[in-house]
Amino acid sequence: MLGKLNHVAIAVRDIDQASAVYREMLGAKLSAKVAQPEHGVSTVFVELPNTKIELLQPLGDGSPIEKFLQRNPGGGVHHICYEVDDIVAARDRLIAKGARVLGDGTPKIGAHGKPVLFLHPKDFCGTLVELEQA
Ligand code: CO
Repeated sequence: MLGKLNHVAIAVRDIDQASAVYREMLGAKLSAKVAQPEHGVSTVFVELPNTKIELLQPLGDGSPIEKFLQRNPGGGVHHICYEVDDIVAARDRLIAKGARVLGDGTPKIGAHGKPVLFLHPKDFCGTLVELEQA
């Protein structure tokens, strides 16, 4: 069912500072910062040869990453995103196997313009998992 690792997302309080770490210290290639008000985050993508790192900073009130940053004030790995060929089939299989899909289970359009779902970290080794339609 699982395809490629699409990205690893890291939540940070200061995305400009985090971008500088990746650009200056690690010599990475970065995308421009994009405000995504419908997702409550600003994003910068670190482009790697085989995948991406998504830096996330809260945007506006009630950001979905605000609680995570309160628990992890220095930032941290927030979720990992796997590609699947058929997100509805993947969801149905996971629900049938007893996994919890967050929200109402309807795929939403994610930060890359493709349908995504999030899976409960308690069912996946303590890690929030995002599935993205390939
Ligand atoms: Co993501």
